[in-house]
Amino acid sequence: MNWFIFGYIISLSFILQVQTEQDIDPNGYIIFCLCMGRFGNQAEHFLGGLAFSKLINRTLIVPPWRTYKNIPYSEWFQIESLRSYHRVIDAEDFMQNLAPRIWPPESRIGFCWLSADRPKSECQMKEGNPFGAFWNELNVSFIDTDTYQLSYDKYSINEWHELFPADRYPVLALKGAPASFPMLPEHRQLQKYMDWSEQIMNEVRQHQKTLFNNEPYIGIHLRNDVDWLRACADVESLKTRSYMASPQCFDQSSSTHAYVTHKICYPSDDEIFRLLKNIVLHTRIHNIYVATDKRPMIKEIEEHLAAQRVQVKHLDPWLPVMDIAMLAHANYFIGNCVSSFTSAVKRARDVHNLPSAFWGFSE
Ligand SMILES: *[C@@H]1O[C@H](CO)[C@@H](O)[C@H](O)[C@H]1NC(C)=O
Ligand SMILES: *[C@@H]1O[C@H](CO)[C@@H](O)[C@H](O)[C@H]1NC(C)=O
Repeated sequence: MNWFIFGYIISLSFILQVQTEQDIDPNGYIIFCLCMGRFGNQAEHFLGGLAFSKLINRTLIVPPWRTYKNIPYSEWFQIESLRSYHRVIDAEDFMQNLAPRIWPPESRIGFCWLSADRPKSECQMKEGNPFGAFWNELNVSFIDTDTYQLSYDKYSINEWHELFPADRYPVLALKGAPASFPMLPEHRQLQKYMDWSEQIMNEVRQHQKTLFNNEPYIGIHLRNDVDWLRACADVESLKTRSYMASPQCFDQSSSTHAYVTHKICYPSDDEIFRLLKNIVLHTRIHNIYVATDKRPMIKEIEEHLAAQRVQVKHLDPWLPVMDIAMLAHANYFIGNCVSSFTSAVKRARDVHNLPSAFWGFSE
């Protein structure tokens, strides 16, 4: 080997080593569990938590998603893309490479938001599902817990720094995501830093070919399990524009609705036929992709739109994230305004200016 190159490699690996040694963020780290709900809720909490980690200027330890187990963020999305917004490190990477130095087991304290009159013994980081599993799969236990009463907005940041200085608390481990639900409208645009992983994109392309021979398709989301029936039963008596994910329709649109109606929350079959038919006629797309938690309505849709010769496909994937990715890449999308599953799809589409509509709204 050429000695010059050899020397170069030696000094390069020396530099890299020194760099990793120094790679510790003096402003500290923050981690929290995405422990509420399924993908849609977790995604809203993730974006809110991402915004907060930037506000507080700590590196975000990117938490895994929760299914029946922890799924590393990078399986579904690209960690790299988050870096153009803020400093991040993957949770497993952090646990293996940094935690032994800056967050050894004997220093691990967990923090819960709890009102001041509640004792800190009520802050149980690993109590309940999926809290216990989340931390166990990261091999984290806590020697102590404490509570805080701060909010997650920019006006509270000085208090955060006073209560949790980075030199004393290099890692802030919070029980819940430092974010509101539904998410704040100004955080929706952070979606643009969430790029799908190659693994997900390959699967999407595969399904698009097998199901639709790569032709255009309309994606629809039917949220119609029995829990939703109950959730929507009394929605009109609330007279609210903000019910679960519904701000996504009421904030921006020139909506003629004063508040969330039952038809918006739990559209009838007739409403589904009406709007879908309009979109089919308008776009001349005849392939329909259905994602649902219960009733795909395949036969019903094919019958009612027989004149339009539609073809309805339902993948019923093992992981709902595949449905989200398929809907995010559809040529047109119709979703449920109140659902955070729909809002995850809608945001991913808005980034690319793809058209979307909602059941119960005229189109
Ligand atoms: C935020 O943290 C980074 C990295 O530790 C540091 O370089 C930067 O100066 C901090 N910004 C502010 C406004 O404190
Ligand atoms: C947790 O510990 C197990 C067993 O030692 C190990 O295989 C796994 O990689 C660890 N996980 C993390 C995130 O460090």
